[in-house]
Amino acid sequence: MRLRLFLTVCAALAAGVTVAAQDMPILTPKPGSAPKINGPKIYGARPGHDFIYRIPCTGERPLKFRASKLPPSLKLDPATGIITGKVPPKIGSYEVTFRAANKAGSATRPFKLVVGDTLALTPPMGWNDWYTYRNQITGNLMREAADLMISSGMADYGYQYVNIDDCWMVKPGDPNPELGGETRDAGGGILPNKRFPDMKGLTAYIHAKGLRAGIYTGPGPLTCAGYTASYQHEDADARRFAEWGFDFLKYDWCSYRQIVRNDSLEERKKPYDLMGGIVKRLGRDVVFNLCQYGMSDVWRWGADAGGQCWRTTGDVGNMRRNQLPGFYEAGVANAKLADYAGPGRWNDPDYLIIGYAGRPRQREGPPTKVELSADEQYSYMSMWSLMAAPLFFSGAMNMLDDFTLNVLCNAEVIDVNQDVLGKQAKILRQSDGELLLVKPLEDGSKAVGLFNLSAAPRKMKLAGAELEMTGPLRVRDVWRQRELGMMKEYSPQVASHGVAFVRVWGKAKH
Ligand code: GLA
Repeated sequence: MRLRLFLTVCAALAAGVTVAAQDMPILTPKPGSAPKINGPKIYGARPGHDFIYRIPCTGERPLKFRASKLPPSLKLDPATGIITGKVPPKIGSYEVTFRAANKAGSATRPFKLVVGDTLALTPPMGWNDWYTYRNQITGNLMREAADLMISSGMADYGYQYVNIDDCWMVKPGDPNPELGGETRDAGGGILPNKRFPDMKGLTAYIHAKGLRAGIYTGPGPLTCAGYTASYQHEDADARRFAEWGFDFLKYDWCSYRQIVRNDSLEERKKPYDLMGGIVKRLGRDVVFNLCQYGMSDVWRWGADAGGQCWRTTGDVGNMRRNQLPGFYEAGVANAKLADYAGPGRWNDPDYLIIGYAGRPRQREGPPTKVELSADEQYSYMSMWSLMAAPLFFSGAMNMLDDFTLNVLCNAEVIDVNQDVLGKQAKILRQSDGELLLVKPLEDGSKAVGLFNLSAAPRKMKLAGAELEMTGPLRVRDVWRQRELGMMKEYSPQVASHGVAFVRVWGKAKH
């Protein structure tokens, strides 16, 4: 057996192909050739603002898209499925239905556009460059990531934001002429460094694909990596970001620690209140992401400061592997905060670092395969999905292999994350050996993750009573997209650090 595996690996290496299939099993069924529309069924936007949305849809192209009851201020390109135009000026709900057809069939999906004050009615999804490029990021690499979001198929599952992290601005005093130089123009406007020669062109490039663009700064004088940030330029910087065309802003505390006068809630909230208020008045739908690592229970006041999502923990990439890989630490801490999440207000336990990514705690060097087993990567994605966490992949877009794509792009896993109710899973049971998370869904079913935290395979158990359900349970395997049948109790054998991710229907117990 060992010899056979060894020979297969050698043959595969000689042929230059990945050897994923042996030790990295692919669970997500391949999408069919007929269309299937994915993505959120509810979407918030502010009246009169610019709107851009690409209908996520799998199936053989060319596809032909239609949208019934689309407000007249919006236009759909039937060939690309990209909707552009203005959000209707009138507050209210618009019940749109998307339709896609090709020679193999057709599909529909409801899309409720809710025009009002609340953005991010479901957790935002996309890519952020930090864990791949750090201080190597360039405008061209961002364009390449946008290309790959389309060509890899990720956008067909709802990934939408293409977000720049730190290191796009000038780094004061840096001898590298690409990075150093004047930090602001004569009018005080923030300047990108030479690796970002055309910010407007960059967002236009991203928007032309029906995607949205994100940017990063912080309330202190410098970013975490020592680049120019927005202290005392908050208003001008935010306006410039909107003028450039950005749709998402991450606001990272870092050097604000030199400015804050004490550890009071008021002092810690101040810079976020300030920027949150500015962002809200920009005349553009900009999702505001607070990044201050969970200080002063940010989940209690992040929404009040104008945020749609807030980091609840330190950097997942810096969390050390003990018995378990670092993401469990962020996940378990975040899981306790379920009561604070809801539509337009999400707990953010940091990015998905799966597939290939930069080395942890290392600033430079090419991406390498992350040190997570297949089971651990399925657990990571399952946990983030159940916790209604923003789904931002931060690994290498240009090294996406079949395994990584199968983890990122399972329509049923994403449906759990994007469910209209917007509830974050609660902890049903937790011990050293196991963690069970339960997320109620719009159709009355419950998504359950049974995570085996121990070093050996484990028989796990889930009874209807624990889910407040009676009668036989209908159980569906979410990863395999397969019915497991009707049963009184679900008792899977779960691999070490693995997960059984199921959706359960039963009679509600009153
Ligand atoms: C902090 C943040 C990270 C990343 C870096 C950039 O560590 O938490 O997500 O933005 O700064 O320097």
